[in-house]
Amino acid sequence: MTRFILNNELVETGLPSGYVLLDFIRKNKGLTGTKEGCREGDCGACTVLVGEYHNTEIKYINVNSCLMPIGSVNGKHVVTIEGLNTNKLNPVQEAFVYEGGTQCGFCTSGFIVSLMGYIITNINYKFEDAIEYISGNICRCTGYEGIKRAIWRALNEISKLKINSLRNYEEYRIELVKYEIIPDYFLTIKEKLKQLNSIKQEDLKIDRNYLVGGGTDLYVQKLEELVDKNVIIISNDESYREIFLSGKEIYIGGGCTVSMIESSEIIDGYYPELKDFLKLFGSKQIRNKATVAGNIVNASPIGDLTNMLIALGAKIILSSGREKRTLSLKDFYKGYKNLDKAPDELIESIIIQIPEGKYLFNFEKVSRRIYLDIASVNSSFFANVENGYLSNVRISAGGVAPIPLYLKKTSKLLENVHLNSELILEAANTAQREISPITDARGSAEYKSLLLRQLILAHFQKFYSELVKPEIIFQWEV
Ligand SMILES: Cc1cc2nc3c(=O)[nH]c(=O)nc-3n(C[C@H](O)[C@H](O)[C@H](O)COP(=O)(O)OP(=O)(O)OC[C@H]3O[C@@H](n4cnc5c(N)ncnc54)[C@H](O)[C@@H]3O)c2cc1C
Ligand code: FES
Ligand code: FES
Repeated sequence: MTRFILNNELVETGLPSGYVLLDFIRKNKGLTGTKEGCREGDCGACTVLVGEYHNTEIKYINVNSCLMPIGSVNGKHVVTIEGLNTNKLNPVQEAFVYEGGTQCGFCTSGFIVSLMGYIITNINYKFEDAIEYISGNICRCTGYEGIKRAIWRALNEISKLKINSLRNYEEYRIELVKYEIIPDYFLTIKEKLKQLNSIKQEDLKIDRNYLVGGGTDLYVQKLEELVDKNVIIISNDESYREIFLSGKEIYIGGGCTVSMIESSEIIDGYYPELKDFLKLFGSKQIRNKATVAGNIVNASPIGDLTNMLIALGAKIILSSGREKRTLSLKDFYKGYKNLDKAPDELIESIIIQIPEGKYLFNFEKVSRRIYLDIASVNSSFFANVENGYLSNVRISAGGVAPIPLYLKKTSKLLENVHLNSELILEAANTAQREISPITDARGSAEYKSLLLRQLILAHFQKFYSELVKPEIIFQWEV
């Protein structure tokens, strides 16, 4: 049985946990304000908010309901566009009307839901952060200027109420209700979720062949297989969603989402650049669901997080329930989608070392669009650096081999040598010899090989001032 609150209604359903949330909302509940567009996480028309009670607060995230198994909202609050209605237009809806932020309206509910998610979860508003919330919402007819003006107007109007200096979300949401920005039932949700989470779950007859993290790969690839199965949803299990420090290592639970990594103070404390690199991963909606283990096990040669983790020298802990083993992430891939993993093993956590001394870490990704696009080729670089000498060099490359690739020879070439321009060019040449790209929709083999060369050079260009002595003249011709 899956139990959750849909807007202001308690829902109990015996549908298989793999059934798609979007279908439940539209077909079973007739709430057709949530639109069905691409069904692949690309358009955001199906966006809903999911609120989870955690540490005395309810935290809302915006997600693509087309990629969500209904079981993943068990014990949570799902808010559709209908659930945001008050007796009048809220400031976001009003601003969209006033600034011409909508034409055919197909995308509009997705935009409004994402932006209301931003307002509900952020006491201090920043225009750029609000824009980030709609990074997964596409509009095909209005153009984005009207939408951006509408965001300015809405944030401005709400700021005039001076409610964004409040101490906590509870007080803040009371004010949002007072000004009819959100409906009053929001204030009852905390108690309802507490009660819901105290109900003991019946034992489900689970199909062990289907393990879902966030579903952002599986529901694109295997939708038909999943909808009538009682899938295991690993991201429902709190114990797989922790990030903590132990000695000199950071442990990231396999069920942690990309958004959790972006907002982790521990990770930010040691690798502050990571959160900027992760902005290039999907959209806000995708990052709110996509898990680390899902990215690793999906084994796409262009997986962004996997690419970064290989350069960070990550290890993974695999658990079969009875036994655990640890192995280096770079050794996990045996061939195209062929993993060093038994069927009953799951990734419990990912371990990265905290950096010692000065280090350089960079990620480069080339895709046709900057945001919400997968890479043609990507590459990450990590090294410790002292007086122009590199050590612990680890370079990864994606999209140029059947697996997420660790560039073993290129990394070795740069180890403990004094850098000069010849060596950097030699590294780019060596990288090109280590790969085996194929021609596909993302480019020809030759193009991808040249791209990787440029990305290797781009790593050094980024670190130019830190690494390169004035006498070194770069001759970066391809
Ligand atoms: C619109 C869109 C944009 C995207 N953009 C990007 C992008 O920019 N960069 C990128 O790298 N990817 C991108 N992706 C791909 C996807 O979001 C990522 O690969 C994501 O990390 C997958 O995680 P998930 O939890 O959703 O995986 P799921 O789909 O839930 O699972 C994927 C695989 O991992 C397995 N699995 C999940 N958790 C575990 C575990 N703990 N142990 C063992 N096996 C497990 C599942 O059984 C399944 O085989 C995008 C996807 C979409 C739909
Ligand atoms: S329908 Fe397009 S993202 Fe869900
Ligand atoms: S208003 Fe038509 S797609 Fe956005």
